[in-house]
Amino acid sequence: MAEFHFIEDYEKHVAQLMRDHPIDEAMSLAVGGAYDIIGRIEAEVLIKNGLSDGMRLADIGCGSGRTAVALARRLRIDYDGYDIIQALLDYAESKTPHSYKFHMNRAVKLPAPNAAFDYICAFSLFTHLLHEETFIYMRDCHRVLKTGGKLLFSFLEFRMPSLWNVFEATVKQYEASTRPHLNMFLERGAIEVFSARIGFRVEKFIDADAPVLDEHALGQSICVMVK
Ligand SMILES: C[S@@+](CC[C@H](N)C(=O)[O-])C[C@H]1O[C@@H](n2cnc3c(N)ncnc32)[C@H](O)[C@@H]1O
Repeated sequence: MAEFHFIEDYEKHVAQLMRDHPIDEAMSLAVGGAYDIIGRIEAEVLIKNGLSDGMRLADIGCGSGRTAVALARRLRIDYDGYDIIQALLDYAESKTPHSYKFHMNRAVKLPAPNAAFDYICAFSLFTHLLHEETFIYMRDCHRVLKTGGKLLFSFLEFRMPSLWNVFEATVKQYEASTRPHLNMFLERGAIEVFSARIGFRVEKFIDADAPVLDEHALGQSICVMVK
């Protein structure tokens, strides 16, 4: 991966959180916090957009299982989670049913055969990758999805005022010469081009501030693509 988003940086960050906080708090902070409510919002948006009982789901960048825990309460699915940090995978595994499988995967491709999945989700993953890496990952998602399968992912975009705050905060970190995590914005136009080049159809965009669960929004914009 690129120089300014080394895996070792994430590992150090997670290790520091684990030293500074009780485990549940550390594992929540490691994926951006609000473990319970964000997990429930993520599960809700997946269900509203077609994830249902009996499907096989790949959760890429699954982190500490925020989405998986919420999904296990609502659906009976075959679940495979992928991440680059072992401590997060271990925690996720400890919080979810035995049938849920978690995999270390540091490639921007999935170690799975063609047409293996009905559904793929990626919450706040492409926000941390270069566009080229996102494109490679999306292309591989297309390969491992069945025809008619969906890829649902969240993204950062400049047009949403709440997301502009994320950009400004990152600018401030650069100005202060700290080394922030990569926060990569991905505009709808770029997503449309990636999608068309790969062979997906964009089914829908959801604004970052659109209510998903009661009055709660996810806080990142969402795209749903169909193979
Ligand atoms: C902001 S967290 C979100 C976690 C989870 N999707 C959620 O919503 O709770 C981003 C996650 O992406 C993981 N990640 C970063 N780069 C990755 C890559 N190339 N492949 C898989 N996971 C990656 C990080 O380790 C982290 O767990």
